[in-house]
Amino acid sequence: MSEGFDSDVPSPARMYDYYLGGQDNFAADREAAEAVIASHPDQRQLARNNRAFLVRAVEHLAAAGITQFVDIGTGIPTAPTVHEVARRTHPDARVVYVDDDPVVLAHARALLAEDRAVAVVEADMHDPDAITSHPDVERLIDFDEPVGVLLVAVLHFSPGDEPRRILEHFRRRMVPGSFLVLSAGSSEGLTDPELTEIHEAYARTPRGGHLRSREEITALFDGFELADPGVVDVSRWRGFERPTRISILAGVGRRVGSEPPT
Ligand SMILES: C[S@@+](CC[C@H](N)C(=O)[O-])C[C@H]1O[C@@H](n2cnc3c(N)ncnc32)[C@H](O)[C@@H]1O
Repeated sequence: MSEGFDSDVPSPARMYDYYLGGQDNFAADREAAEAVIASHPDQRQLARNNRAFLVRAVEHLAAAGITQFVDIGTGIPTAPTVHEVARRTHPDARVVYVDDDPVVLAHARALLAEDRAVAVVEADMHDPDAITSHPDVERLIDFDEPVGVLLVAVLHFSPGDEPRRILEHFRRRMVPGSFLVLSAGSSEGLTDPELTEIHEAYARTPRGGHLRSREEITALFDGFELADPGVVDVSRWRGFERPTRISILAGVGRRVGSEPPT
């Protein structure tokens, strides 16, 4: 996607930026985002809740001693970023940001150009090997040590069983003591017409949107031990934000088992 982009095609990253009140979006992004907001006025709150979850989860990992992070589906940089949160606890924390949206990549690279302990990698999460074998990932991330892998509000842009395949790749690389931070859009509690509206709004984006049931999202933590309070709405993961009608379910899992990584 780096060769350029069509500003007439909405992008999930720029729609999310619009929900969060950012300026890095185009008319097509705002139009698609407004279609979601029209049927779900609390969509902006949902984005804020998700972002607040991400911050709390990174704080949790940093408190558990994690100093290296891979943040897949980074989004347009939003303060505080993952490395800013992690460095409150570990000033030497290393972070690799991964995204495939050219606007995200351009903003993140401009912001982080001077920081040798942070890298911005262009990759599609559906090619996880391209992520783990990327020279910047090999330079900054030591998979023989516990690592935090973040897939926050990104797996609902992946169809069918693909999320499980992506996670299997990372699970095999993550030594016990590593953490998975995951949130994903849920179909829970939505009526069929509501689901259709959301799917139609995201069908305009390159890969569409794929909401999942609580069982499907919980199953993505296979091989990980869920931290309290388990898989819950983002507003309730160790926080009390205003809950929303559409739910993004979230959890933090600790890699268990003695199986050697491959
Ligand atoms: C809703 S934003 C979430 C941003 C951030 N993780 C957060 O939760 O605040 C989703 C991000 O995932 C990225 N994304 C979507 N599909 C992707 C893919 N196949 N590979 C890499 N990144 C992807 C989008 O470009 C966007 O930046």
